[in-house]
Amino acid sequence: MNLIHFLNKMLQICNQITQELFMSEVNTIESTLQENRLFEPSKGFVSNSPMNADALASLYQKAEEDYEGFWGDLARKEIAWVKPFTKTLDESNAPKFTWFEDGELNVSYNCIDRHLVSSQHKTAIIFEGERGDTRYITYGELAEEVNKFANALRAQGVGKGDRVVIYMPMIPEAVFAMQACARIGAIHSVVFGGFSAEALGDRIEDTQAKVVVTADGGYRAGRIVKLKENVDKALANRCDSVKKVIVLNRTDNDVIWQEGRDIWWHEAVANMPTECKPMVMKAEDPLFILYTSGSTGKPKGIQHSSAGYLLGSIMTMKWVFDVRPEHDIYWCTADVGWITGHSYVAYGPLAVGATMLMYEGAPTVPDAGRFWKIIEDHKVTTFYTAPTAIRALMKSGDDYPNRYDLSSLRLLGTVGEPINPEAWMWYHNVIGYENCPIVDTWWQTETGMNMIAPIPSVTPTKPGSCTRPLPGIMAAIVDEEGHEITQPNQGGYLVIKKPWPAMLRTVWGDDARYKETYFSLFGNDMYIAGDNARRDEDGYIWIMGRVDDVLNVSGHRLGTMEIESALVAHPKVAEAAIVGRPHDIKGESVMAFVVPKGNRPVQGDDTQLIQELRDWVADQIGPIAKPDVIRFSDNLPKTRSGKIMRRLLRQIAKGEAINQDTSTLENEDIIKQLQGKA
Ligand code: WTA
Repeated sequence: MNLIHFLNKMLQICNQITQELFMSEVNTIESTLQENRLFEPSKGFVSNSPMNADALASLYQKAEEDYEGFWGDLARKEIAWVKPFTKTLDESNAPKFTWFEDGELNVSYNCIDRHLVSSQHKTAIIFEGERGDTRYITYGELAEEVNKFANALRAQGVGKGDRVVIYMPMIPEAVFAMQACARIGAIHSVVFGGFSAEALGDRIEDTQAKVVVTADGGYRAGRIVKLKENVDKALANRCDSVKKVIVLNRTDNDVIWQEGRDIWWHEAVANMPTECKPMVMKAEDPLFILYTSGSTGKPKGIQHSSAGYLLGSIMTMKWVFDVRPEHDIYWCTADVGWITGHSYVAYGPLAVGATMLMYEGAPTVPDAGRFWKIIEDHKVTTFYTAPTAIRALMKSGDDYPNRYDLSSLRLLGTVGEPINPEAWMWYHNVIGYENCPIVDTWWQTETGMNMIAPIPSVTPTKPGSCTRPLPGIMAAIVDEEGHEITQPNQGGYLVIKKPWPAMLRTVWGDDARYKETYFSLFGNDMYIAGDNARRDEDGYIWIMGRVDDVLNVSGHRLGTMEIESALVAHPKVAEAAIVGRPHDIKGESVMAFVVPKGNRPVQGDDTQLIQELRDWVADQIGPIAKPDVIRFSDNLPKTRSGKIMRRLLRQIAKGEAINQDTSTLENEDIIKQLQGKA
């Protein structure tokens, strides 16, 4: 073996170990193992970018010296205000912060109307359906569609502050509906089309929505997802707040119709004027609610503001995605049901007047080359996706990407979970032709915008690190007492020490939960992200996973409590515990330990019950929450005080040796049952 091969092998081993560290759940960790490869921004990229090291340094300096002035200046410059604000940040009611409070604006005006003078005929959205249908929608057409739908919503009785739930496929109408809500000041709450009727119903109830916007179906992985059917189920016997259901005909799928309640989209917009005056909104008026999982209770309705949120999307489109609206084709693969699909599909790209691509379906239809074909066909320049997709496509082999010309790409991005260095290298070499910077963006539903990420023309990248906080984002890593950790590579809580414009404003209808979840541990000045992180010698941040009982399955947040509650609601389940189990592609997968009522089915005879429970969880929450593995036991292991020994369960899930005291267990056999050996 020559020296290069030997070194490569060693690197691979180091990578594997680093990868395992990501999965580690320890709160504090002293790590000496790191990824040391450093990738400078490519020369071509640097010379074309408006951002350079000096400009970036002065942004950091300004944010350090005059925090409010920093954000205030950007807000004045980047947003079209109806009425300018006079006060930038109000902290008097901390941790309920307000930004630009007396300013007035309309977010949809900022995303659409202000581009019409110069860009009416420019493509705003390139759409590709899973079956290959394509649409090109100009800014002028986008304006018409959004205005008409905004008028249609008004005609159905929706006004300022009313909630509209959107349960749609990944098609342009989903964006029209979101923008239309913003236009008339209604608050949208998009529910991911993969969530079940039950989960949809919970969200509709919580928002008390007046209208639900959906489609007869959507194409996904070669099948039709029956969205309207799920809406009907969700509304059966509950959700009295809903007066109308607007249904887009996407698939010509048969639907059951409820006269008086259901209206076809095309009929609702048929006679509507193509102009709808944008409602003048206060900066702090809620723009949307988006549900996400936490460690306790039901999913939280994260409430975002109008102006602060908009500013966050605009700044990150510029800083992180180096957007050049004149020639970029920007493609973020996230579904609009997640925050990434809000900030980097429905709002950010439009707010900066770029051309963006939307793809309806699965990455593997008709084969694992679909993404690469779309990039070639539409000359995509900027591609933003999740590590789980990269890992899955990497596994399909290099043949697929090699069939296509990906040379239009100039920037790649990832989001949602830590990316393992192996997948990063593949993305860099095989997709980016070693020429595209990779922006690994750390952020959350709550933060509204990318928070920690490289500036692609300036920051050298390291595979697996999201690098440094963006200008104006005061991220830190603190110990249990809230003291900043200064030694390198010492893990701790990731916190944000100052409010930022795009931050969540509250949990919908529940200020107490907002304060308790994000500000109870270290006081009103420190937002707790719920992630564990470390900083290396160069000040680069490495995210090490959640500190709470939240799983990250294929980049999606799932609360263990939520799945446990779903399971114990099943008539045959007495008790359940959920833990994460490392998974090659998904990052983490769901594993369930279940105590059944009555007799425990013995191994081999349990397949039927396992299937029943998996289907049940899919019904209660959605297919993404289905446990991959279910093990039955007579009891769950508990401490003397009656707490489930989760660490032990996690060790079992990982197939690790058990190094815990199990003497409290009444029945030592239980360990064997949990391990699937009895
Ligand atoms: C994780 C997604 C490592 C993290 C935008 C966070 C990441 C949670 C990264 C938020 C990243 C997100 N590297 N981990 N680049 N991005 N995460 O609310 O644990 O769906 O707290 O928002 O995903 O998930 P959410």
